[in-house]
Amino acid sequence: MAKTEKDLVPSPLPRHVAIIMDGNGRWARNRRLPRQAGHVNGITAVRNVVEAANEIGLSYLTLYAFSTQNWRRPPTEVAHLMGLFRHYFRQDIERLRADNVRVRIVGAREGLEGDIARMIEEAENLTRANSGLNLTFAFNYGGREELAAAARAIARDVKAGKRDPESVTPESFAGYLQTAGLPDPDLVIRTSGERRVSNFLLWQAAYAEYVFTETLWPDFGRRDLVAALAEYAQRERRFGSVEDDEPSPKAAGGEP
Ligand code: FPP
Repeated sequence: MAKTEKDLVPSPLPRHVAIIMDGNGRWARNRRLPRQAGHVNGITAVRNVVEAANEIGLSYLTLYAFSTQNWRRPPTEVAHLMGLFRHYFRQDIERLRADNVRVRIVGAREGLEGDIARMIEEAENLTRANSGLNLTFAFNYGGREELAAAARAIARDVKAGKRDPESVTPESFAGYLQTAGLPDPDLVIRTSGERRVSNFLLWQAAYAEYVFTETLWPDFGRRDLVAALAEYAQRERRFGSVEDDEPSPKAAGGEP
């Protein structure tokens, strides 16, 4: 049988892909449309990428939907983004549940409107038993804010006598993060030609590979995802070590 586009999945696949969805505003400006139109079409891209990730067999997909710093945008744009988030969950949660997708939201719950906080909880509860794609939205999320919250929680535990300061290790620290239980991202993709980390998964992405693409988020689809996965598959990941086939100084009996 002839190979179709669907057969062409690069290997090895990253276990966890995280995406900084950027370029909605420029997509709209290029079409002389209001910025809002860029965000609306950004939702279409979210749907396409979730469907592709599920179909490719990715285990974890994390999407940066609203940062702590996005509150600085004009109130009308913030209100529109909140409305889109509500709309997306109302429209899609039933299908995500049926598609065996487990939905999680990382980010601060404080400061969110009550109905959005409840909707997030419902979505997580409804899909908790699902075993397919783990889909996480970073919403009202900031990496530094997450790290500061973890430090506060550790300080409270130490003060309450529940933890010895000497017991704080990278592993135990990670358990205080909002992403506790999720593996670290292997691949972070940022769209729209920007090459910044923008406070996204600062701790978790310590060893991630980054792929930057010129595609604006509303245009991002299966093809772009597969291209990023192919670039990832070419990378050699060493996690601070040396190549496998090069004897380490210790193994070769040399100086460290
Ligand atoms: C960046 O584009 C994108 C965002 C601020 C957030 C992403 C939001 C969506 C994709 C829509 C809502 C998502 C969900 C999950 C409901 P930008 O406005 O910064 O673009 P620009 O840099 O071109 O101005």
